[in-house]
Amino acid sequence: MQLDALKALADADRRILDLFEADANRAVEFSASAGDMHFDYSKTQIDESVRAGLIQLCEDAGLAARRDAMFAGEKINETEGRAVLHTALRNLDGGPVDVDGRDVMPEVLDTLQRMRVFAEEVRGGAIAGAGGSFTDVVNIGIGGSDLGPVMATHALAPYHDGPRLHYVSNVDGAHIADTLRQLDPTRTLVIVASKTFTTIETMTNARTARAWMSEGGGDPSRQFAAVSSALDKTQAFGIPEAHVFGFADWVGGRYSVWGPVGLPVMIAVGSNAFDAFLRGGQAMDLHFRSADWAENVPVMLALVGIWHRQVLGHASRAVLPYDQRLLRLPAYFQQLEMESNGKSVAMDGSSLTVPSGPVVWGEPGTNGQHAFYQLIHQGTDVIPCEFMVAAEGHEPELTHHHRLLLANCLAQSEALMRGRSLDEARDRMAANGLTSAELERQARHRVFPGNRPSTTLIYPKLTPFVLGQIVALYEHRVFVEGVLLGINSFDQWGVELGKELATSLGPIVDGEESAQGKDASTAALVAYALKHRD
Ligand code: F6P
Repeated sequence: MQLDALKALADADRRILDLFEADANRAVEFSASAGDMHFDYSKTQIDESVRAGLIQLCEDAGLAARRDAMFAGEKINETEGRAVLHTALRNLDGGPVDVDGRDVMPEVLDTLQRMRVFAEEVRGGAIAGAGGSFTDVVNIGIGGSDLGPVMATHALAPYHDGPRLHYVSNVDGAHIADTLRQLDPTRTLVIVASKTFTTIETMTNARTARAWMSEGGGDPSRQFAAVSSALDKTQAFGIPEAHVFGFADWVGGRYSVWGPVGLPVMIAVGSNAFDAFLRGGQAMDLHFRSADWAENVPVMLALVGIWHRQVLGHASRAVLPYDQRLLRLPAYFQQLEMESNGKSVAMDGSSLTVPSGPVVWGEPGTNGQHAFYQLIHQGTDVIPCEFMVAAEGHEPELTHHHRLLLANCLAQSEALMRGRSLDEARDRMAANGLTSAELERQARHRVFPGNRPSTTLIYPKLTPFVLGQIVALYEHRVFVEGVLLGINSFDQWGVELGKELATSLGPIVDGEESAQGKDASTAALVAYALKHRD
């Protein structure tokens, strides 16, 4: 079954509500579970024949073999000649994993143990700054060296009992200035997180932080740590070996929160909670490796994604966690999905004949309801929505808040599916006392087309284990979508050109070189900046 053949199964007139009417068991049949996490995709237009066609795609693409190759450490990142083994970072008791004939697990577990010791010593005060135990930790990193830990730190706030955490990513001096202003340079630990240790934003911020610390009486030789796969560069920066946590090139930046990049999270919540996060990821790995496709949550999430983007052509999808502590999850998924599957060239060098991955965006509910849901309900574009919500919150004294949150989440997916017809809108206007032309005019604005698809992921509570499950679920979803599209989800050549041009523009915006050779627009913008600078 090809993607094109699936298009023949698309039917704009197929009403989701009719599918429920025709099958009393639909909610069960079009759901899948991983542990106690439940994924409901019944509020989509997917019926049995569509699902069969989508599953056939997995067979045609040899998904099982590709999946096993990834877990086995084969070099499936072909354009960079690398294995893809972020799963090894959470393989706590899963046995050996070979890369180039060598088991990488002893080193992974050794680094993890070093992280645990370091994190607990920072938390307990045995590792301290010039002015005493650390009150604050600043993580300097960007992209995958920032978004994962930021997201997880917010998500695990109820478990946060270590020093305060701050994240600096942007090269905009405002970011580091606003962060450091509040901190004591003698009691702050700075973690420089960069896989390559060359990223201009991170290295610029790291140097600024080092100067701030030295000038403020702190001791960078004790108060800096590094997380990187370029150990020679961390040494050249002057970070003591005992404070350096390395990882291999087979961990992609956007897949790296499970290892040393997660160090700030471990310092915040402790090594036991971090272990639980790893175990959640590992549980999802086991599920992904063993469940039949139709029962396999990452696979079904991916197939729903393929159905909406590549078959029906919806250009974006909204990730809508009804969980305030997942406020940075949409941004994290943005990198995970868009940097992985935003490609137009297949692994074999040919051009993709179907659309690449969609635009991924979102905000927590209920906030989004009062901002952009208008367009989701009544705009001209269909935006498939991915809701997620916990059965219970962390605040036993505020259960009424959580019930309202849950009710709102469920109400949105129901409203998207159900819609409101013109006749129903007319009845409401009539009940409000409107008549004739005015009733007709007002009623049209109150029509909801409905039949808009959504999925819901529901879990018991946002614990470290559940967070691990969620993150690994989406990683595998991205992997499956990439395999079905025939692309390499693990490189990111599309970020290079901008970096190169920024380097060449550096001396021009410094006023040291002329803008000759640049296009007229760029030259005029540089001229404006130079003219309006003090
Ligand atoms: O520019 C993109 C990117 O390479 C991401 O893939 C990566 O997560 C980020 O930059 C940061 O890279 P590094 O960890 O090497 O500083």
